[in-house]
Amino acid sequence: MPGTDAAAAPAVAPPAPRLLNVLGCGKAGRAIARLLRDQGLCTLGDIANRSLSSAASAVQFIGAGTPKTCADCMDSAGLWLIATGDDAIAPAAVALAASGRLRHGDVVFHLSGATASAALEPCARAGAAVASVHPVKNFSDPQASVRTFDGTWCGCEGDPAALAWLEPAFERLGARRFAIDARYKALYHGGGAFACNFIPVLMELAMRCEERAGIPRAVALDMFEPIARETLDAVFRQGIAPALAGPVSRGDAGTVARHLAAMGEWDPQVARVYAHLGDIAVDIVRSLGRVDDDRLEATRAAMRSLAGLVPSTDTPS
Ligand SMILES: NC(=O)c1ccc[n+]([C@@H]2O[C@H](COP(=O)([O-])OP(=O)(O)OC[C@H]3O[C@@H](n4cnc5c(N)ncnc54)[C@H](OP(=O)(O)O)[C@@H]3O)[C@@H](O)[C@H]2O)c1
Repeated sequence: MPGTDAAAAPAVAPPAPRLLNVLGCGKAGRAIARLLRDQGLCTLGDIANRSLSSAASAVQFIGAGTPKTCADCMDSAGLWLIATGDDAIAPAAVALAASGRLRHGDVVFHLSGATASAALEPCARAGAAVASVHPVKNFSDPQASVRTFDGTWCGCEGDPAALAWLEPAFERLGARRFAIDARYKALYHGGGAFACNFIPVLMELAMRCEERAGIPRAVALDMFEPIARETLDAVFRQGIAPALAGPVSRGDAGTVARHLAAMGEWDPQVARVYAHLGDIAVDIVRSLGRVDDDRLEATRAAMRSLAGLVPSTDTPS
């Protein structure tokens, strides 16, 4: 990942506490506000959501703050967190800048992984220092997230003046921070889709194949649980290439061809996904140098050819 040297930075003293206003205080916003408060890094000012009842529930969760509904009725603060959904960050920054509440030296930050801190540019023009801190964490259960935040990787980018407060503050929360180049944020965040979001999607494809083969979904899920867990464990214990098993890892072009023929007859989309993933699998196996390159390339060629040749049938008979 570009620019990850900050992870090794030595611990620094916590920064002086600031008054925090939160604009958009859902799952992630309330967990971060609560963590900052619990560590004595902030006192709570205004908490603004679209609805007052939602803001009140955030205040209750954090244990402090004044529920509000919009940027222009917020009082001044030294620290502003915009934790709306990603698409609402830029409009919220425009509204905050237009509210006239920002003062020179205020810090405004958001938590998005895919959006650069440049989305906060209107606040920068109004005199604030802006940045983004993206926790690589699932905040679907904010209570649990507060308990387990220690050790969370956080990708940071933005104005040095904002990071000078935010980085030591998040370090105090137990974050393992790293620098992320704002130009690569979409790619960085997209990588997370492969690491997390698409694992259930791959399991869904597996279930469809098993159901098609007459094995009930519930049985298939139980059947794959041990091997799926062992594979993921092996990835983190041994590394990606050594964890890769199966016919591609052996250069077994015949088996791969039978897989693809069976999938292609039934669902060409499944065959194409298999062939695309198999192509990457060949690259991984080649990097180990254990299987003859010609066999691997024959496997790759068979996959590409079969995935391209399979007839298109929408409904299995
Ligand atoms: N959730 C995660 O696991 C996670 C992880 C890392 C980073 N993040 C980042 O954290 C940020 C927030 O995500 P989230 O999952 O916490 O979202 P969320 O639970 O949907 O919360 C968004 C909150 O923003 C409020 N809101 C939306 N538009 C608003 C506006 N124009 N003015 C004021 N408030 C507004 C909503 O208010 P109402 O409740 O009234 O609708 C809601 O409370 C995003 O940038 C996301 O990328 C999230």
